[in-house]
Amino acid sequence: MKIISDALELKAYLKTITKSVGFIPTMGALHDGHLSLIKEAKKECEFVVVSVFVNPTQFLAGEDLAKYPSRDEADKKICSLAGVDVLFLPQVKDIYGEDEVYVSAPDVRGYVLEGATRPGHFNGVLTVVNKLFNIVSPDYAYFGKKDAQQLNLITLMVKQLFMSVKIVPVDTVRESDGLALSSRNVYLSTKERKEALKISTALYEASKMVSRKEFVVDDIKMSMYKILGSLEIGYVEILNREFKIVEEIEIGNTVILVEALVGTTRLLDNIWL
Ligand code: PAF
Repeated sequence: MKIISDALELKAYLKTITKSVGFIPTMGALHDGHLSLIKEAKKECEFVVVSVFVNPTQFLAGEDLAKYPSRDEADKKICSLAGVDVLFLPQVKDIYGEDEVYVSAPDVRGYVLEGATRPGHFNGVLTVVNKLFNIVSPDYAYFGKKDAQQLNLITLMVKQLFMSVKIVPVDTVRESDGLALSSRNVYLSTKERKEALKISTALYEASKMVSRKEFVVDDIKMSMYKILGSLEIGYVEILNREFKIVEEIEIGNTVILVEALVGTTRLLDNIWL
């Protein structure tokens, strides 16, 4: 596995690669969720590139940028064992200069849910993903469904900016008890981790209701709120795949999303029905 930190060096190197390129952008602290993205990429592509870059522009003042878990050595081993061809490991100076050009998230979809609690967050995400796509020029790029709004906005950016990469959504990986894998789970104490399970339990209850043909959004939300109980809930939303509010669930076109604060850790989870 080649490790490159210079953007132009990587761009020049990838120009010499004539194989189909799959790309997984990450912020490191790699876990089984990232591994499933790498596995999908390896199934579909002849050459796989992973980036590890904790992107400062997607963190708001006072967020966890400084303490975001960093495990470069472990990440290198994980990528190498997973058969990654190139690991892109840039520093901030390799990605950002002064007086930057930014990609703006759309006014509506970019400022609801995560965008409402973290205004400007998606400008940072879209800006860095745009830069990374320009550096790597991948044929396919892999994103977890767990960050559903991020996936939705990146898909929209690719369409609206006429980019040629194909975005591939990959299912959320869960612990055996249902907790969705996230780099932020390391912040949870044993007690908080138990509390966090209310999130996947509420989503599981929602999917059970739907399988009983209970499609009314308000009823489903009510049951979810009961399970989420004592957690500080950021939002519980039931949307269609275009991220518009619906009153009734339509199978094949719905996402149920939860954001909650467990201790001081904000956790996201969702199911696609
Ligand atoms: O999902 C993430 O890890 C990040 O938001 C991403 C897509 C790598 C951009 O920094």
